[in-house]
Amino acid sequence: MMLIDSERISRDIETIAGFNETTPEIGFSRPTFSPAWRKARDYVIAQAEAAGCKVRIDAAGNVHARPAAIGWDEKVWLSGSHIDSVPTGGKFDGVVGVAVPLEVLRAAHLAGRAVPLELIVFAEEEGTTFGIGMFGSRLWVNREGPFAENGDDEFFHQFRNRAGQTYFEAGAAHGVRRGDLAGERIEPEKYRGLIEVHIEQGPAMWAEGTPLAVVTAIAGRKQYKVKLLGVPNHAGSTPMRFRNDPLVAAARVICGVDEIAHKHGPATVATVGKIECQPNAVNVIAGTVRFTIDLRSPDAETLETCHRQIEELVISSYHNFNFLTTEDPPPVRMDAGVCAALRRAAGGTIVETVSGALHDAAILAPLLPTAMLFVASKDGVSHNPAEFSRIEDIAAAARALAELVGER
Ligand code: GLV
Ligand code: MN
Ligand code: MN
Repeated sequence: MMLIDSERISRDIETIAGFNETTPEIGFSRPTFSPAWRKARDYVIAQAEAAGCKVRIDAAGNVHARPAAIGWDEKVWLSGSHIDSVPTGGKFDGVVGVAVPLEVLRAAHLAGRAVPLELIVFAEEEGTTFGIGMFGSRLWVNREGPFAENGDDEFFHQFRNRAGQTYFEAGAAHGVRRGDLAGERIEPEKYRGLIEVHIEQGPAMWAEGTPLAVVTAIAGRKQYKVKLLGVPNHAGSTPMRFRNDPLVAAARVICGVDEIAHKHGPATVATVGKIECQPNAVNVIAGTVRFTIDLRSPDAETLETCHRQIEELVISSYHNFNFLTTEDPPPVRMDAGVCAALRRAAGGTIVETVSGALHDAAILAPLLPTAMLFVASKDGVSHNPAEFSRIEDIAAAARALAELVGER
């Protein structure tokens, strides 16, 4: 009998939260490959080893841990998430999805069982360290496209951390081996499927008093980098009619992007969350403005329509611009069989939902039967230090996962 212990899960979450570049009042910051991130990863590895697991780090930098008695070639369930965070984020995003399978492995070990379960810790899920999300899972999985084998340098060189290093440069000290990527790609036949446990990060489940939900689909996302190139000039001596201020144009684009999302119904969302202005001085008309756009919808056609409208908006708003699509993972459906198995494992009464946030599960879904289990988020607050989920709900998710992987 596997006994899930909520206190052990709580200790994992709190310990990982302690590996933080900042202070808890400001938030929880663990950029990928930073010392705080590495300490969190070392902690997870030590816990997995104490739970009788063997551990390996793949060439993309993802951690894999499975019971020592189960060969790496045996077919098992895969479950995991990430420990990197957005700047000043919360304690639960990603960490819950690592702590839950870790606790299942631990509970099984204490019960003298080797469960067919591999824990995975994906590297750089958020994309806030290198500028593109799900880096580790895409490198592990993608056989085509820019992340595939020997993907081109020009692509990878665009994505750098704050020290100016590429993923491969910064990751080398943490197990990333670009030359070995091709030989270490996922072998789907070694997995029964993937289950990613995650907090909902939206308000619905908490408001409706629903502790757990099975995710049936994940929204698609398009992200863009926009650069508006003007000419810096004097804020006092340049009459308004002689100006072509890129910051004013950026403001119009930002409002327009917001309107486009509003027009397409509640499941479509768009955000400008990052903006930089140069020279950024009180008495200088801006010269260059750079900002990002993040667009999401569970409906592929809506994403395409919004994409065209946003592109037209940028084109019509400024004469000298650069508009780059940095990524566009499509909406994905979860596997009906794994969803049904999760529903059974969770006791049958569990509701269904769609994820507005992206997850590594979306990258794995084309290769493995994949589903997600959501835990309610207090007031739907996430990417914020106030992020909170109840430990009893997280433990219920662990019991469901234990039930599913423990089935004979
Ligand atoms: C992941 O946190 C996302 O941006 O959806
Ligand atoms: Mn996450
Ligand atoms: Mn996140």
